[in-house]
Amino acid sequence: MKVLVTGGLGYIGSHICVELVENNMEVVVVDNLSNSKKQVRDLIEQICGKKIKLYVFDVANNKKLENVFRKEKIDAVIHCAGYKAVGESVKKPLMYFENNLGTTLNLLKVMEKYSCNKLLFSSSATVYGASNQMPLCETSPVGGVTNPYGRTKLMIEQILEDYSKANPNFKTILLRYFNPIGAHSSGLIGENPNGIPNNLMPYISKVACGKLEQLSIFGNDYETHDGTGVRDYIHVVDLANGHVKAIEFFDKMQTALEVFNLGTGTGYSVLDVVNAYNKVCGNKVKYKIAPRRDGDAAVCYCSPNKANTMLGWSAKHTLDDMCKSSYLFENNLKK
Ligand code: UFG
Repeated sequence: MKVLVTGGLGYIGSHICVELVENNMEVVVVDNLSNSKKQVRDLIEQICGKKIKLYVFDVANNKKLENVFRKEKIDAVIHCAGYKAVGESVKKPLMYFENNLGTTLNLLKVMEKYSCNKLLFSSSATVYGASNQMPLCETSPVGGVTNPYGRTKLMIEQILEDYSKANPNFKTILLRYFNPIGAHSSGLIGENPNGIPNNLMPYISKVACGKLEQLSIFGNDYETHDGTGVRDYIHVVDLANGHVKAIEFFDKMQTALEVFNLGTGTGYSVLDVVNAYNKVCGNKVKYKIAPRRDGDAAVCYCSPNKANTMLGWSAKHTLDDMCKSSYLFENNLKK
């Protein structure tokens, strides 16, 4: 099985590549390096002891993408490429719509031309919007998305639904990620955002390693067990393994389109994460309580039952594993 991973050198894409290779699949990556580095390919190869084929260009480039499909016999595509910063998307909506939708439309056109009919899309829990009952199930209503980034995820899901209705032989799997954190156990690959991190875990790691002063906890007056926001954090290696199981599921798929939540089903608060991290790093995560962040929900966690049953997948790593691997990766970045 030869799998094309778009955005394969990014945080999630790189872990997916490792899992695919370790499960004897051949990997081809297309990445424009807009939020990643070429050296990540070497690190993936170092972890796996195998070569990864890399093409550096934008997935929206029709000629170059056709060239890849002509040269490689691609059996399935995992589409991770896309912009993902919520705040930036509010300031630059057109950039988000053009990039995230444009890459997807081009990918579909080229897949159709080269008769590649298996697509796995990196979607997000954000498509469920804010006013749902917990736990979120795949049947929970979607919509009510509050930012352009989230809207691109929802719009791409809708495009893929329409496309699969018109092309029943085309198999689509939508994977809705909850909060992926952690890093590979080697400490070689992980999340390394440009500038000051927006997300919780990379921020905590930078405080623990003395690169940032202190964490601001956004709100301690939510209706949760300790007042801080609750999320379904999932180890990125478990998330990546879910993609392997989804790829293997394509051949058993009875419908044109399936949706799966990838989460653990357990919610942890910001303070739970800080406390777990402090156990690992020796109490180096200083924090203060700050006002709530606009657009944040109090609680968000899923039911992963559908993926457990149909894909035979479940998350194995604990919150401690997530913290340990993040700390190891962040420390390695210093060198
Ligand atoms: N938080 C802080 N301080 C920080 C950063 C985050 O207290 O410096 C809190 C947030 O308020 C929230 C929790 O930590 O309660 C998690 O925040 P993240 O920014 O790490 O993640 P979000 O749940 O806000 O967003 C993530 C992804 C989005 C995706 C969304 C889907 O980053 O891309 O999950 O629900 F859309």
